[in-house]
Amino acid sequence: MTQLLDTSSSSIARAAECLRAGGLVAFPTETVYGLGAHALDAGAVRRLFEAKGRPANDPLIVHVASADEVRGLIMRMPPNAEALAARFWPGPLTLVLQKSPRVPAEVTAGLDTVAIRMPAHPVARALLETAQIPVAAPSANLFSRPSPTRAAHVLQDLEGRIDLVIDGGPTMVGVESTVLDLTSDLPVVLRPGAVTLEMLREIVPEVRGRVEGDPGKAGAYPSPGLMSKHYSPRAPMTLFTGRRDAVVDALVKRARQAAADGRRVGVLVMREDVDGFGDFPVRLAEMGTSADLAAVASRLYAAMRELDAAGVDVIFARDIDSEDGLGQAIRDRLHRAASEIVRL
Ligand code: TXA
Ligand code: MG
Repeated sequence: MTQLLDTSSSSIARAAECLRAGGLVAFPTETVYGLGAHALDAGAVRRLFEAKGRPANDPLIVHVASADEVRGLIMRMPPNAEALAARFWPGPLTLVLQKSPRVPAEVTAGLDTVAIRMPAHPVARALLETAQIPVAAPSANLFSRPSPTRAAHVLQDLEGRIDLVIDGGPTMVGVESTVLDLTSDLPVVLRPGAVTLEMLREIVPEVRGRVEGDPGKAGAYPSPGLMSKHYSPRAPMTLFTGRRDAVVDALVKRARQAAADGRRVGVLVMREDVDGFGDFPVRLAEMGTSADLAAVASRLYAAMRELDAAGVDVIFARDIDSEDGLGQAIRDRLHRAASEIVRL
């Protein structure tokens, strides 16, 4: 049985005790809900992989309460890591560093590096401070499903497979943390997130973006977990990318045709595009306006799950036209979720 807890201090204390004893606890962070296990307990980490159905070659992020705790998990803290941590922690930035032998190979999928982040969410912080252990936590979804941004999403995927879920309400950011590798010659962003390339370059000017151009389909990723098919709704999703008017026209046409063919159609839709969908049966999941990318990011995964829950057969979505700021992170998730990309 999986128990749902509130955020009272007695609940936090119980969840912390469960983690210390090797249990699995889902908790809110500012990005998405994480599924935590004691990072120095190899058995607990193995159970975590099992509960998610996650392949063992996809390494986990270790969450800490303080910068001091990091020292015990890595070989050395490079100066640029100090500066980035001082600026962005606690917050949605994960740093990949040379790992200490204390960190079990299960956590890092056998790599000699470890990903570390200090979350900003008050519930995550209270849990980590109370548990006084580093906590390995991937997103609390079944493997390849959209990341959970509410406690109910966690239960949809993991009910009966984990011990506890702390319900801290909807998460704020909605897409996972920025992952920055500091172990290669030049720092490189492995996964875009709310801490943008521009923000990172203010502190470390030589930071490189992961791939130029299409974020979803570029060859091999340097990180084994960054396979392109990921974060997907159950129904196959077609993403339309290119000039907005052409994209909206083509999307509406395809959706109308699919509906005429008797398919249940879902659309991840921007508020400004809603009017195009008046005259045929379609299930719309609104993501807000593309003028407010923070709102779109916070709605993205919940909207995918809504369409799945509505039982649609196919999903259509339009790409974000902006590469700035959060636009990159949203584009990255949309491209990875898509099983077909139509370029216009
Ligand atoms: O916002 C987040 O980061 C959330 C919350 C719960 O903190 N966590 C999260 O974890 O998204 P997960 O496991 O879904 O994604 C971790 C990513 C994967 O893409 C993985 O490949 C990468 O971090 N990663 C972990 N360790 C790594 C390492 N040593 N080297 C390179 N990439 C690594
Ligand atoms: Mg994940």
